Amino acid sequence: MSLIKNTRILDTLNGLPVDKTPVWIMRQAGRYLPEYKETRKKAGSFLGLCKNPDLASEVTVQPLRRFDLDAAIIFSDILTIPDAMGLELKFEDNRGPFFEAPLNNINDVEKLNTDNIAEKLDYVANAIIETKSKLNNEVPLIGFSGSPWTLSTYMVEGCATKDFRKIRSAVFNDSGMIKNLIDKLTISITDYLVMQAKAGADVLMIFDSWGGLLNSENYLDFSLNPMQEIIEKLRNNDASKNIPIILFTKGGGSWLKQISASGCNGIGLDWTTNIKYAREIIGEKICIQGNLDPCALHGTEQSIKEAASRVIDGYGYGHRHIFNLGHGIDQFVKPEKLAILINHVKDYSTQYHKN
Ligand code: CP3
Repeated sequence: MSLIKNTRILDTLNGLPVDKTPVWIMRQAGRYLPEYKETRKKAGSFLGLCKNPDLASEVTVQPLRRFDLDAAIIFSDILTIPDAMGLELKFEDNRGPFFEAPLNNINDVEKLNTDNIAEKLDYVANAIIETKSKLNNEVPLIGFSGSPWTLSTYMVEGCATKDFRKIRSAVFNDSGMIKNLIDKLTISITDYLVMQAKAGADVLMIFDSWGGLLNSENYLDFSLNPMQEIIEKLRNNDASKNIPIILFTKGGGSWLKQISASGCNGIGLDWTTNIKYAREIIGEKICIQGNLDPCALHGTEQSIKEAASRVIDGYGYGHRHIFNLGHGIDQFVKPEKLAILINHVKDYSTQYHKN
């Protein structure tokens, strides 16, 4: 039995009825909040913040002080795994995260060290432990990792690039290198997620932010199948077997049927796929999380409410929807606009949850 007081998200993921549609926001701890910027300054840098459990747990709980959110997500980054494997992560304010020496060939892949990944990332486990204590069982805590494919894209490209030509070409002309890299990441990501479960994460989410770059056949080979392997391993581990898993492929709208067969409990939906259509494809056994266009938050109070209502109406009656954006909130959103959105979701969605 869970001790957590607000169980809306856990109930939704477990197929139980809820009184209103639960809501959390991707990147809810971020630069649109002045208090985040202040704590980040204290940490000295973005990576310093990720690696400091005191401050990382502080920014994790900041959005919950302002908004009526149904979950916290641990503050970290998907690129901490490559860093722990020996590919040093750097960060510049006007550039974002990058690797100075990206992977060029199979020899570079073979040099990566997958030993003791969980121990090397114990700062994330410690941040989870501290956050759980600060949350005081009010809401569940979401842990996460990048997918093997999405981490591969950053490790080969060095950073997010315009068309990802290097890795998309490698899929065709050096598939052995990419497969080898993905195999290594699959092992490390599994260890990392089990570690997060042991530290107290209540939900696990896999961010496949760049799965949508692949053609259909390669999406299955390079992205979905490795994620499915991770899910199977998590289900076979005592620490993680009962933890709901959300899988989010940005640009994955044409593979919803295959994603729903992966063993996940919830599917993240970006804003390009209609949620009513997605529900028809996915069926009633798996939840949908999303799918408001993040830029809707730059609208007026009225247009924000209308856009959110359209998502809620689109899903319709039933208890298998977690409201969220279709991707992360951007740094230019005014916090007051997010409050309007969240309060509206709470008010407006109750009509769809009467039994
Ligand atoms: O959601 C949350 O509140 C938890 C924190 C979180 C961050 N990154 C913090 C962050 C999560 C879940 C991530 C995941 C992440 N990181 C993804 C997957 C989700 C997605 O957005 O597709 C990706 C692709 C990354 C890699 C990454 N980290 C990029 C491309 C950037 C730069 C983009 C930007 O917004 O500037 C980051 C930096 C980053 N990660 C920031 C935050 C709050 C901004 C850093 C800052 O403080 O300047």
